[in-house]
Amino acid sequence: MKIAVFSTKSYDQEYFEKYNDEHQYAFSFYETALNSDTAKLTSDSKVVCVFVNDVVDKETIKVLAANGVKLIALRCAGYNNVDLEAAESHNIKVVRVPAYSPEAVAEHALALILTLNRKTHKAYNRVREGNFSLKNLIGFNLHNKTVGVIGTGQIGATFCKIIKGFGCNIIAYDIAENQELLDLGVTYVSLEEVFKQSDIISLHCPLNKHTKHIVNKSSIATMKEGVMIINTSRGALINTADAIEGLITKKIGYLGIDVYEQEENLFFEDLSEHIIQDEQILRLLSFPNVLITSHQAYFTKEAMDQITTITLENIKSFETGSEIANEVN
Ligand code: NAI
Repeated sequence: MKIAVFSTKSYDQEYFEKYNDEHQYAFSFYETALNSDTAKLTSDSKVVCVFVNDVVDKETIKVLAANGVKLIALRCAGYNNVDLEAAESHNIKVVRVPAYSPEAVAEHALALILTLNRKTHKAYNRVREGNFSLKNLIGFNLHNKTVGVIGTGQIGATFCKIIKGFGCNIIAYDIAENQELLDLGVTYVSLEEVFKQSDIISLHCPLNKHTKHIVNKSSIATMKEGVMIINTSRGALINTADAIEGLITKKIGYLGIDVYEQEENLFFEDLSEHIIQDEQILRLLSFPNVLITSHQAYFTKEAMDQITTITLENIKSFETGSEIANEVN
């Protein structure tokens, strides 16, 4: 069976080939993202495999359907980039990888917190240049700080367990409480209280119409002075312009983001020789207390193994007509 795989890098191809022996699928790997223009590349494929920044909207799905595509296999957990109604109306199934390694993402959130706080990225560069000064490298103890977690699903729960080990007080907001976390000593509070009480806020909820710009001018106004905000979930959870304003007024003391509202034009590419046109990312890069990584929280060997094997199993279930465990409805 032919599968068109979009937004691929060499490492994606490597992992798909590593696990293809038992399947013998014929992959067409495309570096380009899927959108309504590139959808024409699927003319001989029954399955398309896409990632976080592929644009699988109504227009794209129309072209996919006309080309005979029957399955959209997301090799990620979030599915905010797929128009599910359009897919259903064209009888195209959508599958995803709901949980491949919550540890990978939760541990990266910790990496952002520790780096922003203890400034190891700056210390590394300083010491390599023979500068052994500690000036401006002062951090704070995580012990006894209040950490607010928004979204306590797979990743948020794993994050809570890790940060608990640092001796933090954990408060959380979710539309559904997680009993395991209550047993761990996590206190569920309202969203407003998370914003008000937290020294560090970490976002782990999906992006949808309820959560878009959950961090905005008015929620930032209620936060503690110098709050640290960490986003490893989806860029549009934060209103970027409002976050920039919060950084300028010093209300936000630290911002660590692995995802960015307009990341589809930037992330995963080497743009070091290009003139970057995105004014907001350039402004964010100008702050000494902002740390940006390029959607790499998922990127561990264990997660790549899981993403690839589960994606191939999802496709196999579709091919053999068995029940598809990871279908998105
Ligand atoms: P999950 O589905 O296990 O958990 C999401 C949690 O958010 C659930 O407990 C749900 O009840 C909660 N939630 C839903 N609506 C909410 C709302 N309005 N307010 C507060 N909480 C709400 O998902 P998982 O696996 O924990 O992933 C979370 C997000 O992380 C994904 O949606 C995805 O956007 C992002 N992600 C980012 C990656 C990266 O590399 N940076 C990799 C994988 C996922």
